[in-house]
Amino acid sequence: MGVPKKPTAPEPRSGHLVADIAVIGAGAAGLYGAICATRAGARVVLISATPLAQTASYWAQGGLAAALANDDSPELHLADTERAGRNAVRRSAAQVLVAEAPECVRDLQTLGVSFDADRFGRLALGLEGGHSLRRVVHAGGSATGRRVVRELSALVAEDSQMVVLEENRARALCRVDGRVGGVLCEDGQLVVARAVVLATGGAAALWARTTNPPGSLGFGMLLAHSAGADLADLEFVQFHPTAVIGLPGREGFLISEAVRGEGATLHDASGERFVDELAPRDEVSRAIQMRMAQTGSSSVGLDMRSIDPTLFPNVVGALRQAGLDPTSELVPVAPAAHYVMGGISTDLHGRSSVPGLYAVGESACTGLHGANRLASNSLSECFVFARRAALSALDEPPPAAMQELREAVADPPVAAQVTPETRQALWHDAGIERSPEGLERLSRDPHPLARLIALSALARSESRGSHRRLDHPATDSSLDRQHFLVGGDERGRWELWE
Ligand code: SIN
Repeated sequence: MGVPKKPTAPEPRSGHLVADIAVIGAGAAGLYGAICATRAGARVVLISATPLAQTASYWAQGGLAAALANDDSPELHLADTERAGRNAVRRSAAQVLVAEAPECVRDLQTLGVSFDADRFGRLALGLEGGHSLRRVVHAGGSATGRRVVRELSALVAEDSQMVVLEENRARALCRVDGRVGGVLCEDGQLVVARAVVLATGGAAALWARTTNPPGSLGFGMLLAHSAGADLADLEFVQFHPTAVIGLPGREGFLISEAVRGEGATLHDASGERFVDELAPRDEVSRAIQMRMAQTGSSSVGLDMRSIDPTLFPNVVGALRQAGLDPTSELVPVAPAAHYVMGGISTDLHGRSSVPGLYAVGESACTGLHGANRLASNSLSECFVFARRAALSALDEPPPAAMQELREAVADPPVAAQVTPETRQALWHDAGIERSPEGLERLSRDPHPLARLIALSALARSESRGSHRRLDHPATDSSLDRQHFLVGGDERGRWELWE
């Protein structure tokens, strides 16, 4: 590995910093990737748009899926991941995830994260939709993201090999001879590095109804795309079945699937149960959507009255604050955009199609989630692939000479305004059900990512997982394991990923 023997902090030179790796984004993947890199002796600059510990991962209620139980195995975890992903999972990526997730859980414990334990002191494992057995570790019940991000942020803040640029944003990537070798920040600061790792999160807040914080707008995907990187699987967007609706101040608030794992049930307007609550998310969301259409109701009821409220303190607290007591009344819920399976196309080490540019977490697309992510595989993915990317990035050639890079600050800044009209358009035209007319309309939207989503969804003329085409209701088996990629030149192509 081409890393300095003696770790030193990134070198500040006039108006710029020189590091081994620049990480953009301080959610779970960014923080952990940065920590893995400094542990390997690298100098890291971490750029965070928000103050540390206020990123989207902070909101994550789900846990980490890992085969830790005595009766579990990576093979069983793989089988569940593939079943949920509807013949679109890239098996090699899923194999990496299931093999390495248990070790990541143990590593996080050594870093100080305290996961919930049962009364014997063993890790308490939760059940979620699509899992054939209990396999999800949580921290503080549904406060996992908050706990993990807080712990890792504290480590980062005191790491002398790391410079953290808080409340600063990447404006453009810098390229020399076809390689990414640095980042220009909004305040004019230039960060020069062997590699840039994008850990900028997802894009589900582009949809009008979402569980995500307002900043999840796919900025990193556009940044990568403007540097020529391939994006993949943009048509696959997961709609979470149980997001609060009609409660002022709590619109889109997520009620974790773990609540259904503990026995909460879904009921239509007449009180009837209508779906297996622990089926994979695409199935549950569609069943809710259909039932709402049949009954003319804008919500279904989540009955969590039998659930011990101390297991989900932040969910129960938030609902009570909004004036609803889930221990005595049903919670009105409906699907909302939650997670983008697509993103910056990467290999199994986080490398994008542009040398020197890496992506991890929700901003990346390894193909691991296929057409429908298995619950709680995403946090595990953040850790497994961030570690791989951080270590691979250290093998990139040393940073370019400053003069070269200054001359190469060439990529135009990404300035894509997200209007309420674009968000409504995505909800209506790229929602749970999609028509060719709606997608054609969306392909003319002013927002570049909305257009690329429409292009990808039009290309996939079949229904699979989260992508439901009204004009092609069946799955086309000739598209099994085929992924749609859009290059920097906006041209689409299919690739078989195994
Ligand atoms: C949930 O807890 O239901 C959300 C977590 C996830 O998306 O996996």
